[in-house]
Amino acid sequence: MAKPNTFVCSSCGASFSKWSGRCEACGEWNSIVEQVPLSAGPSSKSLGARRGSTVTLTDLSTQETPPPRATSGLEELDRVLGGGLVAASAILVGGDPGIGKSTLLLQAAAAFARKGLKTIYVSGEEATAQVRMRAQRLGLAEAPVRLAAETNLRNILTMLETEKPQLVIIDSIQTMWADNVDSAPGSVTQVRATAHELTTFAKRHNVSVIMVGHVTKEGQIAGPRVVEHMVDTVLYFEGERGHQFRILRAVKNRFGPADEIGVFEMTGSGLAEVLNPSALFLSERGQPSPGSVVFAGIEGTRPVLVELQALVAPSPHSQPRRAVVGWDGARLSMILAVLEARCGIPFAGLDVYLNVAGGLKISEPAADLAVAAALLSAREDVALPPETVVFGEISLSGALRPASQTENRLKEARKLGFTAAIAPAGGKIGSGGGLKLTRPADLTGFVGEIFGAG
Ligand code: TYD
Ligand code: MG
Repeated sequence: MAKPNTFVCSSCGASFSKWSGRCEACGEWNSIVEQVPLSAGPSSKSLGARRGSTVTLTDLSTQETPPPRATSGLEELDRVLGGGLVAASAILVGGDPGIGKSTLLLQAAAAFARKGLKTIYVSGEEATAQVRMRAQRLGLAEAPVRLAAETNLRNILTMLETEKPQLVIIDSIQTMWADNVDSAPGSVTQVRATAHELTTFAKRHNVSVIMVGHVTKEGQIAGPRVVEHMVDTVLYFEGERGHQFRILRAVKNRFGPADEIGVFEMTGSGLAEVLNPSALFLSERGQPSPGSVVFAGIEGTRPVLVELQALVAPSPHSQPRRAVVGWDGARLSMILAVLEARCGIPFAGLDVYLNVAGGLKISEPAADLAVAAALLSAREDVALPPETVVFGEISLSGALRPASQTENRLKEARKLGFTAAIAPAGGKIGSGGGLKLTRPADLTGFVGEIFGAG
């Protein structure tokens, strides 16, 4: 009999037959923990020998209507969900402790409840009195949300079967425990078992379930990664603790586009929607200064303008520093290498710092050119022309590639009062609609046109 895989990585969910210090799948250290098998029943009998009931098979051609969606009225949330909440869907909302998940979901619960959805909020972390106090602070005390403070999954499911809600919020999955699983709450085994139970319950009883999951760097508490495969939608709530901006990002969505973001601002009375994120991300921008460049990006289906800031200074270390916040460090190294190899602009002996203002994390390759512009502007101590946005992808050869959705980017720039844009030649750009366009063919051309040197 094959030995079952009883060790699982709490970071990525990969399973192994033996323990090791480092997960081969994701490279995380000390994340592998032993897992107690889910069912203790005998597994020697194959399923095929059992008698079952017939399963109806249908064909693919039948017309299926799109799933009905319930909207909360919180536009930022509805859009990230793909246009509203799909009935019988299971959703995971992950994020660092203290980032505002409970606040967001209490507000969401109230919003859905006010729209007529029968909503239950189950807290395993706070007593109902605490949740109620928070609701009062948020001005939501009148919303018809039912509260429960419970961690035993059996009790919760029993309650749900009698109450028959349309939306259940479980805060958090790490505090829940199934009494048929012999493992501590928060362990991979428990998180997996309870998430599986809740997901199955959602499908079987036509209830939408939103689960909160804390992410921690250490493998101690099971990260919600193991749950990601089970649910329909995975949202991450991100942001810097010291910043008031919070970004809700769809990383997986069976019912809508992934990579969609919703922007919120943490205020004294809860999370406020930010309907025009560009204005917010640019609000702290002062006079044009060396190293500062505005990138016209696309987040999900929406254009977002954001300021990139670079600082380049002589390094006192033999190994110069490369520090990035909000962008990919490997991508920065690549841009530096291309600038050096193709344009002859060395960064050796210089410390390089790059920051995306406002706490946004950018993953688009179209930011390449804006990053290069910020680096050069900082290195040469020359500010870019004022009111200019930059975007475009840089290839290793030093050639520039046009970015997708150029029109949308330019439109957003115009809307926010920008007067010029730098984007690669090629691709479809109309007249620019009043924006002064600079369209270099390659990186050398770009350096020449903007900084007057090759
Ligand atoms: P919380 O939702 O409890 O975070 P999580 O559930 O992700 O652990 O939010 C915690 C932080 O949010 C806390 O530090 C205080 C802050 N906060 C506000 O600034 N304003 C508010 O109205 C509320 C409710 C919380
Ligand atoms: Mg919480």
